Amino acid sequence: MTDHPASERYAVIGNPIGHSKSPLIHTAFAQATGQDIVYTAIEAPLDGFKATVQAFIAAGGRGMNVTLPFKLQAFEIATDPMESARLAGAVNALKFEGDRIVAQNFDGLGLVNDIQHNLGVSLAGKRVLICGAGGATRGAILPIAAQQPALLAVANRSADKAHGLQRDFAAHAVLQTGGYAELAGESFDVVLNATSTGLSQAELPLPAGVFAPGALAYELVYGKGLTPFLKQAQAAGVTHIADGVGMLVEQAAEAFAWWRGMRPDTKPVIARFTVPLE
Ligand code: ATR
Repeated sequence: MTDHPASERYAVIGNPIGHSKSPLIHTAFAQATGQDIVYTAIEAPLDGFKATVQAFIAAGGRGMNVTLPFKLQAFEIATDPMESARLAGAVNALKFEGDRIVAQNFDGLGLVNDIQHNLGVSLAGKRVLICGAGGATRGAILPIAAQQPALLAVANRSADKAHGLQRDFAAHAVLQTGGYAELAGESFDVVLNATSTGLSQAELPLPAGVFAPGALAYELVYGKGLTPFLKQAQAAGVTHIADGVGMLVEQAAEAFAWWRGMRPDTKPVIARFTVPLE
């Protein structure tokens, strides 16, 4: 892509930002759809998020993805936080429209699109379990509930934190919440690991039988190969396993479609970033 003055500017902002795949993903989308955009990575000083965003807007920036540690601060500068961001309690995409800063969170939608469109598992009528009760789970609840699963359960090491989600989402979703031990005797068609254990070597204390025959086990972290959760699932006989590479690309596609009004084909980009699960 040529970086000429007419190109519209987008960026991902975070600190650190060196690891971000967003510039590669969005540049691939732009090339495939013929959109004349430039997408860069910006490392904002830890105490300079707002000033960096304002400078980007002043320089003609049209939108941004937001990553750690600014997902909450992005909320504070938004003039129009959409429901997806409000309920997730975090922002991952901004659009600049005149004086307005519109904020969204596409992580949950990206997850649902990956499960349903790429992995071919419809969530309607299914028993779905989310492990973890942090930010990743908050983002996932509403888009999953919108697919009308038969049951949406949230289990967490601290059961109280899971119960807190039940209260926070009471107006939007019916949740079964509790600790892992309370799952004994239950089985699920889709089991999602939204804890941070994908980044460590910790195993979740999942009772035997939690994976229903033919279940999908999905690790939201990407690029870490077989995480302890995925190994646990395999040991329980699960053959349909996935990590979050598809979610990463699908949330990017949602942001791209929101900004540019056209939807890129995600499959080749997912293939490019897929690390074998072994
Ligand atoms: P994120 O925003 O990525 O969801 P977070 O808000 O820090 O991160 O949440 C981390 C989640 O991983 C929590 O659900 C946490 O459980 P607790 O609320 O009980 O702390 C979960 N988690 C982290 N380490 C864990 C471990 N060793 N075993 C079980 N759950 C773990």
